[in-house]
Amino acid sequence: MQKGSLLFLLHPNFLMAHASPILLLFLLLSLQVIAQENETNIIKPGSSLYPRKHPSSWASSSGHFEFGFYPQGSGFSVGIWLVGQPENTIVWTANRGDPPVSSNATLVFTGQGGLLLQTENGKENLIVDVRESVDSASMLDTGNFVFFQNRSVVWESFDSPTDTILGGQNLSTNYNLTSSVSRSNHSTGQYYLIMQGDGNLVAYVRSAAVDTRDAYWATNTYGSSLSRLYLNERGRLLLYAYPEERGLANSSQIGDKTVITYRATLDPDGVFRIYSHQFESNISSNGTKEWQNLNDLCDVKGNCGLNSYCSSRNNDVECYCYPGFTFINENRKFLGCSQNFTLDGCEARKDLVMHYNFTTLENMDWVGSGYSLMNMNEEDCKKACEEDCYCGGALYSRSSGSCTRYSLPLIYGKRRGDISTTAFIKLILGSTPTIPPPQSPTLIDEGNQRLISTMGLSLGSVSCLCFVIAISSFLIYRHRMQSYRKLLENKNSGFTEQFTLRSFSFSELDKATDGFKDELGRGSFGVVYKGILPGDKDSKTVAVKKLEKVKEGEREFRTEMAVIGRTNHRNLVRLLGFCVEGSRKLLVYEYLSNGSLANFLFNTSESPNWKERARIALDVAKGILYLHEECEVCIIHCNIKPQNILLDDSMTAKISDFGLAKLLRPNQTSISGIIGTAGHLAPEWQRNASLSVKADVYSFGVILLEIICCRSSIDVEVSNADEILLSTWVYNCFAAGELNQLVGGEEVDLRMLERFVKVGLWCIQDDPTLRPLVKNVTLMLEGKMDVPVPPFPSLSHVTY
Ligand SMILES: *[C@@H]1O[C@H](CO)[C@@H](O)[C@H](O)[C@H]1NC(C)=O
Ligand SMILES: *[C@@H]1O[C@H](CO)[C@@H](O)[C@H](O)[C@H]1NC(C)=O
Ligand SMILES: *[C@@H]1O[C@H](CO)[C@@H](O)[C@H](O)[C@H]1NC(C)=O
Ligand SMILES: *[C@@H]1O[C@H](CO)[C@@H](O)[C@H](O)[C@H]1NC(C)=O
Ligand SMILES: *[C@@H]1O[C@H](CO)[C@@H](O)[C@H](O)[C@H]1NC(C)=O
Ligand SMILES: *[C@@H]1O[C@H](CO)[C@@H](O)[C@H](O)[C@H]1NC(C)=O
Ligand SMILES: *[C@@H]1O[C@H](CO)[C@@H](O)[C@H](O)[C@H]1NC(C)=O
Ligand SMILES: *[C@@H]1O[C@H](CO)[C@@H](O)[C@H](O)[C@H]1NC(C)=O
Ligand SMILES: *[C@@H]1O[C@H](CO)[C@@H](O)[C@H](O)[C@H]1NC(C)=O
Ligand SMILES: *[C@@H]1O[C@H](CO)[C@@H](O)[C@H](O)[C@H]1NC(C)=O
Ligand SMILES: *[C@@H]1O[C@H](CO)[C@@H](O)[C@H](O)[C@H]1NC(C)=O
Repeated sequence: MQKGSLLFLLHPNFLMAHASPILLLFLLLSLQVIAQENETNIIKPGSSLYPRKHPSSWASSSGHFEFGFYPQGSGFSVGIWLVGQPENTIVWTANRGDPPVSSNATLVFTGQGGLLLQTENGKENLIVDVRESVDSASMLDTGNFVFFQNRSVVWESFDSPTDTILGGQNLSTNYNLTSSVSRSNHSTGQYYLIMQGDGNLVAYVRSAAVDTRDAYWATNTYGSSLSRLYLNERGRLLLYAYPEERGLANSSQIGDKTVITYRATLDPDGVFRIYSHQFESNISSNGTKEWQNLNDLCDVKGNCGLNSYCSSRNNDVECYCYPGFTFINENRKFLGCSQNFTLDGCEARKDLVMHYNFTTLENMDWVGSGYSLMNMNEEDCKKACEEDCYCGGALYSRSSGSCTRYSLPLIYGKRRGDISTTAFIKLILGSTPTIPPPQSPTLIDEGNQRLISTMGLSLGSVSCLCFVIAISSFLIYRHRMQSYRKLLENKNSGFTEQFTLRSFSFSELDKATDGFKDELGRGSFGVVYKGILPGDKDSKTVAVKKLEKVKEGEREFRTEMAVIGRTNHRNLVRLLGFCVEGSRKLLVYEYLSNGSLANFLFNTSESPNWKERARIALDVAKGILYLHEECEVCIIHCNIKPQNILLDDSMTAKISDFGLAKLLRPNQTSISGIIGTAGHLAPEWQRNASLSVKADVYSFGVILLEIICCRSSIDVEVSNADEILLSTWVYNCFAAGELNQLVGGEEVDLRMLERFVKVGLWCIQDDPTLRPLVKNVTLMLEGKMDVPVPPFPSLSHVTY
């Protein structure tokens, strides 16, 4: 029986089906949706469509929707449209990246696979690939084009939306709407709106690197990995981010759903709008706007290029260059601006004295790459930017007195009356040569290098370090300038920025922590201190971690920080910034007021209640799920334990210290020495085997059992020797059917308790392959997936 359950878990089909929640959802939907065929409207294999000959489309039974060829540019594309007078509204396009085809093309519905597009020169392209045999297709009255096999739906256009969802359609987790190029060109455009795995619906400007700075609108909802956006038949837009359900918008049109259809479209300008279409009237075939997510087009990023800013008037955007910059192309202002003077290495040019001037622009804001935030007065802010050769401009907030310096290019600038920050733009007036340097200019490269290295040695380690820092800053700067140039050539390419975090100086952190006085705790990576940063409105309490034993060089360190900085999840402690000055490396995290999970579970006199504990366990699982599967680079934590799970003031659990294991690991063998938290480490650490995400699953399993029982994994102060090891005790209680012993008689939901215990026991299996993936762990904890009966966790009965 147990073996059978195991085989089920390991069966490739099982793993495949659960490898992606979308696939799962898709399967469920396919099974649930029963054929809504209308016999009069069935398309049989062998039917064809032609751009200029009859039939050129297949209509739905009401005649409101059609599927077929529609004109695009000088050719035709295949898609679905809402029939209108005088114009149709395209709501879906097949293979939108492909160029339009000529009027000689033919679309054939084949029983084997889907829709085959044949073009004049004999080319064939399967544009809708159903991947199985189908016996009919239909254009439904909802605007959904579906394929049937034996009366059940095997493919539907609702499952692969382009820029629109129609009334009755979902946008499921990890699906996105991508805008069209323009109202007449339905190729992939500049913006996308994605239903993220963390429950947040976010609009981004498309760029090479997914960066939170490219986001311009979000619902800021957080929920399970099975969230969805839904437009109902009455034009109401709903977001289900389990357990939260939020109405985002209502439509005012009321009427019979057979005469009104709603659609929600991410328009070519990046704004997400709901439209209603009334079939019985000719008021507006383009639809009546019911709602939009943004009122100012300048809030949509990317309308104006680099070094330019956006200002809107009456629904029209205008791009302006910052003073001292000129348009790259006067006729295509959205491409951005450039300065005809290059800094050309800045500090490296010792032979030149640069002359600057500043212009002040009120009500300005931009995103850019801010690298220094300090409190000072206005004059000092300008001065700081002038003396800093990497500074291209600064944003100053008069209310808080904070000055942020930015390097070029300045991106996503906007100017609007209600913006309270003021911008100082640095203007390069020119340069004059300095008095010739003392060394003879005849000394060339090799000699110079020798000279520099001798000087470096004699000046001691401090200046040597400064030199290294200067060189690396220069390299970073060069890298930026290069990506900037690349960008100028192609507006659609992305910003390959390295930093999204704030970089602090050591003295700033020294001051913030009052000389590293208030110690919050000691971890495997160093000591953590409480600090207070002066902020915009009120000061912010932070936790500053002084890293020890970090062997990594500055460059690698910054790369690692960039990876950590891109993580953003409700159940992860947010990294706010860092400081790297020579060998000193510090991290600045958000401060969480309720201490660690270890404290919460083991050190309080009255044990926390079951409901709260269960919620915390799920929080931790979601944090790990994000690290393993949902962030850009998969992060194996390697050191999850109750001491580095922190609780915020609403008792939400957040994982800390992730992404650091990599910095500390000179080789794998010594890590257990460094970390040394027996109990939570997967057995493969001791076996020196290679590590996978399953190591974190093991740690999670131990923590889950600790959360259930409110005791540590190893406890010698127990009445019975069998209870010393938590895992053995839990298994014995489970096998004996005495689960209530584990919670000390507390009133709990017994079915939930049993589920949690079983999941915990699966996670702590000695054999990593037996442990479930954390995605399945969350599904099982939430009760959305059955949990088989676990075997005894250890291969050989453990003896420590
Ligand atoms: C099928 O289509 C016909 C004509 O288009 C319509 O009159 C009928 O109501 C439809 N039947 C169903 C079940 O939708
Ligand atoms: C549509 O836009 C794409 C991308 O900008 C472009 O390559 C294509 O030529 C355009 N098509 C038409 C018909 O204008
Ligand atoms: C379509 O085919 C006809 C006959 O083969 C040819 O004369 C015509 O140029 C083709 N049209 C296009 C747009 O390729
Ligand atoms: C079609 O489905 C019905 C019931 O859903 C089933 O009895 C029948 O065997 C199926 N036919 C084929 C050819 O799969
Ligand atoms: C939308 O999702 C919900 C929940 O998963 C499902 O019940 C409903 O049938 C879906 N609607 C469509 C049209 O797929
Ligand atoms: C958006 O969806 C399309 C089609 O499913 C996919 O090709 C594209 O990669 C998605 N984009 C993002 C950013 O997820
Ligand atoms: C939409 O209408 C419902 C009730 O009709 C109301 O409760 C809700 O607040 C409205 N939502 C929005 C976003 O206006
Ligand atoms: C809508 O326009 C079409 C063609 O322009 C016309 O035939 C029809 O009568 C109009 N319908 C209404 C309700 O005005
Ligand atoms: C629909 O939109 C197109 C493109 O924006 C515009 O040219 C046309 O006049 C609009 N038609 C109506 C009836 O508003
Ligand atoms: C920059 O452009 C201005 C005006 O176009 C011109 O007078 C000036 O010489 C240019 N400077 C450089 C360094 O090219
Ligand atoms: C510097 O800018 C100010 C105001 O923008 C202007 O009045 C002044 O003439 C400029 N100075 C130089 C040397 O260009």
